[in-house]
Amino acid sequence: MPNAPDLTPELPEGVDVGPGPFPQIGGFVIGEQSRTQIHVARPFVLAPMSGVTDSPFRQTIQAASEQGVGLLVTEFISVEGLTRANLKAAARMSFDPVIERPIEVQIFGADLERMVHAAVLIEESGAQGVDINCGCPAPKVVKRGGGAELMRQCDTLARIVEATATAVRIPVTVKIRAGWSADSINAVAIAKACESAGAQAIAVHGRTRMQLYAGKADWQIVDDVAKAVRVPVIGSGDVCTPQEAVWRLQTTAAKGVMIGRAAIMNPWIFRQIDDLIAGRPVRDPTPADRAQLLHRFADLMGGRMPDHAIPGRLKQLLARMTKGFSHGSLLREKVMRAATAQDMFVWIDGFFDAVAADDLPHWVQMARPEVAQVELDDHAGIIT
Ligand SMILES: Cc1cc2nc3c(=O)[nH]c(=O)nc-3n(C[C@H](O)[C@H](O)[C@H](O)COP(=O)(O)O)c2cc1C
Repeated sequence: MPNAPDLTPELPEGVDVGPGPFPQIGGFVIGEQSRTQIHVARPFVLAPMSGVTDSPFRQTIQAASEQGVGLLVTEFISVEGLTRANLKAAARMSFDPVIERPIEVQIFGADLERMVHAAVLIEESGAQGVDINCGCPAPKVVKRGGGAELMRQCDTLARIVEATATAVRIPVTVKIRAGWSADSINAVAIAKACESAGAQAIAVHGRTRMQLYAGKADWQIVDDVAKAVRVPVIGSGDVCTPQEAVWRLQTTAAKGVMIGRAAIMNPWIFRQIDDLIAGRPVRDPTPADRAQLLHRFADLMGGRMPDHAIPGRLKQLLARMTKGFSHGSLLREKVMRAATAQDMFVWIDGFFDAVAADDLPHWVQMARPEVAQVELDDHAGIIT
């Protein structure tokens, strides 16, 4: 029975990047043309994810990653909210300037003046860069001209990039998709226009707006963009193992790889990539590491958000982190029913202690006596 999620690399058949080391894989600089630069020591970036990558989450990932995360990006933030001193927008922008660096704050919107104003506020906050979102597919965002709609408004986007890049000393970067739809793939043209307007890096999620998150990300488009512009390109989409991260760097002209959903399932992925690149055995987290990470996340959230919001976020992370675990669904069920973080940790700690002691059947017996008895009787493995 596996006691960890199955994150099988989806490398093409017969492809194996080998055990490392990979000395040719290194960092890069964003902002050669701007007044300040971002030194990205490791070419692996924590993807912006709305509702996920807030400050507590980013710091949790950083702690699990040791030095493995080269660049952080906030969740996207509305320029309307930010420039009207909306409290929610301000909270989304908050970061620890000592721990969370380098960091870019991502904004979305389409109003040129507000985009510029927001960029100036971001620079004043001490962030190292401003990222403009051109990938969000949500109707409420695109209807107002922001997110992926900017992929259809190349001139507007170029004006926004130019105006923001002129207004701040820190680099302005752009995150795009492959295009709006399969019949309007224009990432290369958009990237070139952004570069000419002053963008200092381009992140490319290899799906169209119409695809949302369906299908597979197209890394050929990432490669095409990376070959068409001089600024660094960061590829995004479906990287879920250290091997894939290395392979994407080896087989495309991208300078960096962005990792999103896999970091929720496996918050240690950046450390594991670092291990692979250094030629060390890739370290798997222990059950104690997993429990500790959840405690750390809860501690970091404490004081930063209302107490009632914490259980929901814990459930979100736990649900992803325990996918594929033997009896993970029973743990999730128990945790979903718990009302407070304290109650949740009774189950979480008990579960990971039992995994460490190789004694899950007894934990199951305590959690759900009728199921456990069957298992103890027939030694059947239940993988959920
Ligand atoms: C829950 C969620 C929220 C996201 N929010 C943002 C966002 O705020 N800004 C952005 O540029 N991309 C956002 N994305 C897209 C990711 O940054 C990334 O490009 C995409 O998930 C593909 O990468 P992955 O397969 O590594 O997750 C989001 C993705 C997810 C799953």
